[in-house]
This record gives sequence, structure tokens and C-alpha cells, in this order.
Amino acid sequence: MPNDSSPSRQFPPLPQFSGMNAPSRIECHIKDLEVVGELPQALQGTWYRCGPDPQYPPMLGDDIYINGDGAVSAFSFADGRVDFTMRYVRTQRFEAERAAHRSLFGLYRNPYTDHASVRGLDRGTANTTAFVHAGRLFALKEDSLPYELDPVTLETKGRHDFDGKLRSRTVTAHPKRDPETGEWLFFGYEAAGDASKDVAFCVADKHGALVREEWFEAPYAAMQHDFAVTRDYVIFSVFPTVCDLDHMKAGGTHWMWDGTLDTWIGVMRRDGSVKDMRWFRRPACYSYHVGNAFNTGSQITIDLCVSARNVFPYVPARDGSAHDPEANAPYLTRWSFDADSPESSFTSRVLSPIPGELPRIDDRVSMHPHRFIYYGGIDPRKSQLMAGPIGPGSNHLVRVDTQTGGVTALFLSNTTTFQEPQLVPVPGAEGLLLAVVDHHDTGLASVVVLNAADITAGPIAQIKLPIRLRDAFHGDWAPLTPKTI
Ligand SMILES: [Fe+2]
Repeated sequence: MPNDSSPSRQFPPLPQFSGMNAPSRIECHIKDLEVVGELPQALQGTWYRCGPDPQYPPMLGDDIYINGDGAVSAFSFADGRVDFTMRYVRTQRFEAERAAHRSLFGLYRNPYTDHASVRGLDRGTANTTAFVHAGRLFALKEDSLPYELDPVTLETKGRHDFDGKLRSRTVTAHPKRDPETGEWLFFGYEAAGDASKDVAFCVADKHGALVREEWFEAPYAAMQHDFAVTRDYVIFSVFPTVCDLDHMKAGGTHWMWDGTLDTWIGVMRRDGSVKDMRWFRRPACYSYHVGNAFNTGSQITIDLCVSARNVFPYVPARDGSAHDPEANAPYLTRWSFDADSPESSFTSRVLSPIPGELPRIDDRVSMHPHRFIYYGGIDPRKSQLMAGPIGPGSNHLVRVDTQTGGVTALFLSNTTTFQEPQLVPVPGAEGLLLAVVDHHDTGLASVVVLNAADITAGPIAQIKLPIRLRDAFHGDWAPLTPKTI
């Protein structure tokens, strides 16, 4: 429980605050980054990214990786050159702590542990995803409303509630942009507040106006980090990482793993209603991220990373069982459903032998059949360097050809890890793959530019940064570079 004594001005010597995970707290604009090789002319646009970077040492002396303040960055590419900008999102929380010169918020998603002076303030950190829609840039965090940023300067414009229309208190950090309609499909879980079972399914049209918000109840209050959308269906997943209000009020964590509960998968038609939701079930498992989903008639395919339980080591098990990283490693997996089947079961098939997470596709085929998936592989036989929320960072970049089953992987060195890849579309080609590389030996970052069709050939070009970039979670590619900063 908090007290009024000032917290330490030093970050604790813990893995989540050390090495590549050490808070950078840097806001900057760097013109013309150093480039080794030649940047392809096809790179014309901006790669926005978002991740947690704690402004102050934790009030309670310890904290988890994902509770840091949102820092949004942009690599702006034009004519063989690249600029870099990074800014904190000025959330209510950030501003309150900056004014007090210290941290004031306690445990992750537990307002009962906050300093009395910030009661009632928005706890959102806007630290998970940078997302561009209708020419506007947003920073998203699943427990709160989006913040809108200026796409050029990254200055914060304010909280975004769709002109006061959105009733949900939360918006997922895994938005789905329909490449055909331009719609932004999203949901909010714990939509009515902490531990509520309420889920809001929402759609904003291609101009950004909220045109749909329907609420339903999940089988139990659970973390719903991502969801899936196809041309005709929306799929919600409820995995047993659960929230217990009494536990929170007693100063406990927001989340606990309860492996006695089933996984529930809700399927509804996009032209239907949440009232028509069909629930499929299987024993407890976990998934943070969906690569893509598509349907052929009533046959639905979802490619996602699945683990035996929650992969975050700081989600304690309700039964006290220890977290086993190897047994709980996530694998890229294909789930197949028949939406019209009278059965509540579905099939599951692992697509790659290399464990890992952060699957991405060419977003132009989002919601439609895709061929390639790229993700960060964590091969336990190679160096395990701490970077990011799970513990070890991705020591490989992996490409899966879902048509042939072929798996290729790029390994750079024993001192490097990769952050989430980004596919940049190139007409008539598979595209370019970008990824931030953490250099654990020098404490600096670079960006590799790869031919997505042949990632094992190594970088076409490498962009060198004079700073370290703390692991960002998710990004978005906008094909236009805003006029200069
Ligand atoms: Fe995520």
C-alpha cells in the first residue's frame, strides 16, 4: 500500500529496469540517421512504434515491464533518407507525475494502490500500439481510451473518445483496419470498469466516426489482449487470465492465471449482432497475439501464437504454481472453426517449430487469406538476452510460408535481439521487413531492412541509432511521410 514518503530516485537493479530494459527517458528528433548500405526507394513513409518507458522509478520499489509511460517513436523515410523522432505521450498520469517529480501510481492496473493525490485520474499509459486511422495517429492501451498525437511532431493532442460518443471505458491496443472498407474495428473489455465482464464491440468508419457500439458479457472477466476479424466474422477470445476485484482491493495484482477455466472463443457475423455470438470452447491456454484471420464461407482460420498458460512471468497462478518459461513457450498456431458446426470444438495445428511471438503479416491482406507470417522467434538453444516483457528477447526473426509450410529464420549474433517486425508493402513483391535490433554489447539500437522474401540473406541496409531503444510493443506503417519536422 502506498505512503506519502517519496519513492527512490533510482530505478531498482532488476532485470526489467536494467541493460536494454533500462528506461531511456529520451525525447528527441534526429535528422538523417546513419545508414549502412542504401535504403530502397520503396521506403517512402513513416513507421510509428509505441512502447513503455517509465518516467520515474516505481513508487512501490518494484514494477513490471509493461507499466511504463507510453513513448511513441517515428522513423520517417523519404528518398533514401530516414529521420527519427521520439516523444512521451502526455497522459494525465504522465503530467501528474511530472508535476510531482515522482511516481504516484502503484501496481499495474490497480487503482487501490495509488497515491491519494491521483485518485480519479486516468491511469492509462498509452504504451502499447501506435495506430494510424483516417490520417490521425493514436497511442493505444487496452485499459483506457486512446490518446491522439500529432503525426508529425508526436505532440499529444488529448484523449480520444470519438467526440464523446464512445461508452466503453477501454479500447483495445489491437485495432483491426479493414483494407477494403477503411473501417477501424475494435473492442473494449472491462468496458464498464475493473473486473466487469462487459465487452464493447465497436466500429469507426473510414473517416473515424464511431458508427457501431454493441455490448455483451464475456463468460468471465479476463484479459482479452487481441481479437480477430475476417471479411465476414468477428472472433473474441477469452483466455483464463482473470481479474478478481477483492484481490485487487487487498493490494493484489490485476491479473491471475486460473488454469481450471476453459478458453472460450466467441464468433459472430459482422453483418449480425453480438446477440448471435456462438461460443467455442477448449481447455485453458493463452494467446497474446493474432497474426491474421480469414474465412471461406463458414470456415474460419485464425493464425495466432498460443501457449499453455500466460507467458508473462508476472501473472501469478491462482494455485501458486510456478511459471515455467519452456513449458509455457508460445508457438505460432492455426485454429480452424466451422462457424455453422453444431459442435463447440475446433482444430489446432502448430505452424512453426520455433517458439515466439509478435506475428505480423502484410496488412494489405488483413482479414483475407495471407501466405506469409513474420514473427520474433525465441530459440531456447541460442543466447537468452533480457529485452522486453517476457524476459528473453527474440533471438531470431522468423518467416513462415503457410502455403508450403516452409520456415526460415534470421539470426544475427549472440549479442542481438529483435523487436516486433514491420512489413512494408512493395508493389509486385513480398515487401520489405523492418525490425529494430537491440545491440546488447554496445547498448545501442539499429534497424535492419530486409527483403521479406529472403530474410536469411541478411540486411539490405542497416540504420544506426546513437541511442538505445527500450523494447516497443507494436507499430504501424503509414505510406506517406508527413512534411518535415
Ligand atoms: Fe500486444
